[in-house]
Amino acid sequence: MWRLLTLAVVSAALLAAPRPATAADPYAFFDWDVSYITAAPLGVEQQVIGINGKFPGPVVNITTNWNVVVNVLNDLDEPLLITWNGIQHRKNCWQDGVLGTNCPIPSGWNWTYEFQVKDQIGSFFYFPSTALQRAAGGFGGIVVNNRAVIAVPFGSPDGDITILIGDWYNKNHTDLRKMLDEGKELGMPDGVLINGKGPYRYNDSLVPAGIEHETIDVHPGRTYRIRVHNVGTSTSLNFRIQGHNLLLVESEGSYTTQQNYTSLDVHVGQSYSFLVSTDQNASSDYYVVASARMVNESLWGRVTGVAVLRYSNSGGSASGPLPDPPQDQYDKTLSMNQARSVRRNLSAGAARPNPQGSFRYASINVTQAYLLRSTAPVEIGGRRRSALNGLSYSPPETPLRLADAYDVKDAYTLDFPDRPDAAAVPRMSRSVINGTYHGFMEIIFQNNDTRMQSYHMDGYALFVVGMDYGEWTESSRGTYNKGDSVARSTVQVYPGAWTAVLVSLDNVGFWNVRSQNLDSWYLGQEVYVRIVNPEDGANKTEMPVPPNALYCGQLHKYQKYGPSSPESHTTTSQCFPTLLLLIDIFLAGSRLLITRWRRLWRSGRSRPC
Ligand SMILES: *[C@@H]1O[C@H](CO)[C@@H](O)[C@H](O)[C@H]1NC(C)=O
Ligand SMILES: *[C@@H]1O[C@H](CO)[C@@H](O)[C@H](O)[C@H]1NC(C)=O
Ligand SMILES: *[C@@H]1O[C@H](CO)[C@@H](O)[C@H](O)[C@H]1NC(C)=O
Ligand SMILES: *[C@@H]1O[C@H](CO)[C@@H](O)[C@H](O)[C@H]1NC(C)=O
Ligand SMILES: *[C@@H]1O[C@H](CO)[C@@H](O)[C@H](O)[C@H]1NC(C)=O
Ligand SMILES: *[C@@H]1O[C@H](CO)[C@@H](O)[C@H](O)[C@H]1NC(C)=O
Ligand SMILES: *[C@@H]1O[C@H](CO)[C@@H](O)[C@H](O)[C@H]1NC(C)=O
Ligand SMILES: *[C@@H]1O[C@H](CO)[C@@H](O)[C@H](O)[C@H]1NC(C)=O
Ligand SMILES: *[C@@H]1O[C@H](CO)[C@@H](O)[C@H](O)[C@H]1NC(C)=O
Ligand SMILES: *[C@@H]1O[C@H](CO)[C@@H](O)[C@H](O)[C@H]1NC(C)=O
Ligand SMILES: *[C@@H]1O[C@H](CO)[C@@H](O)[C@H](O)[C@H]1NC(C)=O
Ligand SMILES: *[C@@H]1O[C@H](CO)[C@@H](O)[C@H](O)[C@H]1NC(C)=O
Repeated sequence: MWRLLTLAVVSAALLAAPRPATAADPYAFFDWDVSYITAAPLGVEQQVIGINGKFPGPVVNITTNWNVVVNVLNDLDEPLLITWNGIQHRKNCWQDGVLGTNCPIPSGWNWTYEFQVKDQIGSFFYFPSTALQRAAGGFGGIVVNNRAVIAVPFGSPDGDITILIGDWYNKNHTDLRKMLDEGKELGMPDGVLINGKGPYRYNDSLVPAGIEHETIDVHPGRTYRIRVHNVGTSTSLNFRIQGHNLLLVESEGSYTTQQNYTSLDVHVGQSYSFLVSTDQNASSDYYVVASARMVNESLWGRVTGVAVLRYSNSGGSASGPLPDPPQDQYDKTLSMNQARSVRRNLSAGAARPNPQGSFRYASINVTQAYLLRSTAPVEIGGRRRSALNGLSYSPPETPLRLADAYDVKDAYTLDFPDRPDAAAVPRMSRSVINGTYHGFMEIIFQNNDTRMQSYHMDGYALFVVGMDYGEWTESSRGTYNKGDSVARSTVQVYPGAWTAVLVSLDNVGFWNVRSQNLDSWYLGQEVYVRIVNPEDGANKTEMPVPPNALYCGQLHKYQKYGPSSPESHTTTSQCFPTLLLLIDIFLAGSRLLITRWRRLWRSGRSRPC
């Protein structure tokens, strides 16, 4: 009954506010129960984060312009936020699921994301965005299909297969967090998972018995679209399928010129689609491999993900050595050249009928340029931290976007330096990049560390115009790709090298720029870009605060309602205090109820009825 009351409050609020999406576009509804489940992907039992009891979570299969409604119940013992890697949330950073825009969903509460995948196509993934939780799972693929009226630049595949690859630790995320808090490094992972499963036993001495592996079932003579996402903690992975070409067709929403690769490096947070033809003789199964890159690969040999591609007419199990990784231990250019070879197909449409190439990014003048330098972790106030331009971000308790909406002063500063200051002492900060609405921003990521990095920006696709070893200089601009760069949301930055991106600041909001390496991110390597339309007083270029917004930090007093989780999650003993509260309703009215509920909520943490 309490739940009914809560629902009434919520739906009244929903009715009063404008719908954030176009009513004509279809809705897709999802109910997710996010909880720990026990799994032993590498033979060691641990708590992993499952969605509706599944690890990895379900694939969100949707189409351009659909409205997506995901009701997330946080059944973990800690706060939760889900973010949608690569989904642009146009005008709607309220749904981005990062600490700069959202208060985390408290343990035991549910919260409903509602967003439209406006003008997007492609392969993306979701994951829990805070507290290193991605190292424990909670991730899954997102497929945004073309609308039927928009042509795809290749024939309709016979199947669509999502493959999540990622390094994995047998230590759980709370232990990993503790290590980082104590100033330790996470060290070499214990393995690489493919769709949440450990390696196939391709070598008895390297892979112990009793580990479950992933099998991908296919039929001969077909073509499959395989979407590969690196959802791991911090390891770049080389992806390959024994005996098969990978025809690259898409990178995070850009259709690429179609090229065959025998293997491709997929860096943390990146997504690619390949077409794979099952044109081999099936004398046996084939290995699907994800092996560590940009590390000492012989030393990291045991950290290799191996799944099996099985034809329906397969002659037997896969055996023998794995297909070779690229042989470039002493040649640092191979991987970068491969990255540069990923180009946009200028004659292909994407989410809209017009060709992608019609956006002539090279003829637009840059209005703001930021050079963001990353270094090896630094000591700040006795703690080991990561920084960009010497600033290590520390999320304020009040999300930045909410702070703006409610005029909370001093939540952040708008003075993020556009160049690193070599003389400045590294420090903690809440400094934000002041983006100019309708400006055109150049961001240069300069990796001054010895490890591989990848950086991501929410809310946007970035034109990846250049990358090279050494220090970026003004003259580096002369080397930019001015014609057919892909636009994607996560870019790799090689150690001792730079990567330059261009971004058209047309999406109002606060948008997270972060290291996709979980440890660097956790230790502060992120910043937000604030983009406001100074002329908008009518909620046209940005949606208003959603009616179900959670409030925390300096705004916690605005929190209107408590949790409302499904009945199945309650027990009778937990119902007793709520019964007392219901009596209160009749005696003293709803005002008192809310006060009492809050008090109870703060002291108790029992689930509602
Ligand atoms: C992680 O493992 C430690 C023991 O190493 C345990 O105390 C802790 O409860 C575990 N956390 C989770 C979320 O399973
Ligand atoms: C995803 O959705 C598309 C279009 O609605 C459908 O054709 C396809 O079969 C779906 N794929 C999966 C794996 O469910
Ligand atoms: C919580 O879940 C219920 C359905 O189980 C839903 O009706 C309600 O709107 C959700 N609450 C929020 C805040 O999303
Ligand atoms: C580019 O897209 C066009 C239009 O869909 C397609 O016909 C062509 O094969 C593609 N070219 C390459 C190189 O991928
Ligand atoms: C298994 O791996 C070990 C260690 O790398 C190697 O020495 C051995 O030759 C491999 N065995 C087979 C059958 O490939
Ligand atoms: C890619 O390789 C396949 C064989 O697997 C071949 O049929 C196709 O022509 C190649 N495509 C390109 C663009 O090279
Ligand atoms: C199948 O292909 C493999 C590798 O290309 C080759 O070694 C093998 O002899 C072939 N088997 C048959 C039965 O054709
Ligand atoms: C990689 O590690 C192996 C084994 O420890 C070592 O012999 C080799 O020198 C290392 N290679 C490089 C390039 O550091
Ligand atoms: C870009 O800048 C150049 C020189 O500053 C100027 O001549 C040109 O008109 C500008 N282009 C646009 C599209 O504003
Ligand atoms: C932020 O940029 C806008 C122009 O987009 C400018 O008007 C404003 O003064 C800047 N704010 C600060 C604090 O620098
Ligand atoms: C980092 O920068 C310093 C000088 O700023 C330079 O000497 C050093 O080689 C750089 N290191 C890397 C890995 O790029
Ligand atoms: C815009 O939305 C806010 C809620 O975030 C509301 O208070 C305000 O009245 C709206 N403005 C207009 C002009 O509709």
